[in-house]
Amino acid sequence: MNTATHIAIIMDGNGRWAELQGKNRVKGHEVGAQIVKEITTYCSNNKDIQRLTLYAFSTENWKRPKLEVEFLMKLLEQYLKRELPVYLENNVRFEPIGDLKAFSKSLQKTIKDVEEKTAHCDGLVQSLALNYGAQNEMLRAINKLKNTQETITLPMLSDALDCKQDVDILIRTGGDHRLSNFLLWQSAYAELFFTNTLWPDFTIGELESILKKFTKIERRFGGLK
Ligand code: FPP
Repeated sequence: MNTATHIAIIMDGNGRWAELQGKNRVKGHEVGAQIVKEITTYCSNNKDIQRLTLYAFSTENWKRPKLEVEFLMKLLEQYLKRELPVYLENNVRFEPIGDLKAFSKSLQKTIKDVEEKTAHCDGLVQSLALNYGAQNEMLRAINKLKNTQETITLPMLSDALDCKQDVDILIRTGGDHRLSNFLLWQSAYAELFFTNTLWPDFTIGELESILKKFTKIERRFGGLK
């Protein structure tokens, strides 16, 4: 029976969720942040799950209206500050991935602070993908390695990436069937789950049902049974 150690989620559908209720798109992000908390707490209580990687802001999300980008930045900073005691209480290590230099000094400081203060936690790793794009991640990894004299091997490249752990389950909410530049290297053999549920409506029950389906999948990794 399979056990999932790394779950990755593309949290899509916040804007549509809010619009369906006649609310501003940003309300969807606010409720979405609450779901991040619930799913993280659930995963921190599941002994098999080591890592939860969540796509919170992509390298392409800067193209959104300025006010929405500003709201997301503020929400992220508030979330990290508010959740620090919860990370500690649940023994969750916070680990950002992505190119963080693009963020304001204040947000960078908050990210670093939460990362440092939870560095000793040895339960779940909650990894937020922030200004993250898989192509950008691979490019940065290649640039890190380009001056090495050795022939670059798979483990060397893998180790130079921000996220070094293969994904077991990749979930996308919101109805679209695409990967949107998320963890392309690490998802080489991930099992993909697409749901029409909009992220603010995503529940622990739906995650449990995905985990149950995953246990029954025959994973061959290119080999034979
Ligand atoms: C996609 O929904 C979601 C995002 C671009 C941002 C994800 C952010 C959150 C879940 C909340 C903030 C997270 C944290 C950790 C504080 P969308 O806006 O593209 O929805 P749409 O497809 O319906 O327009």
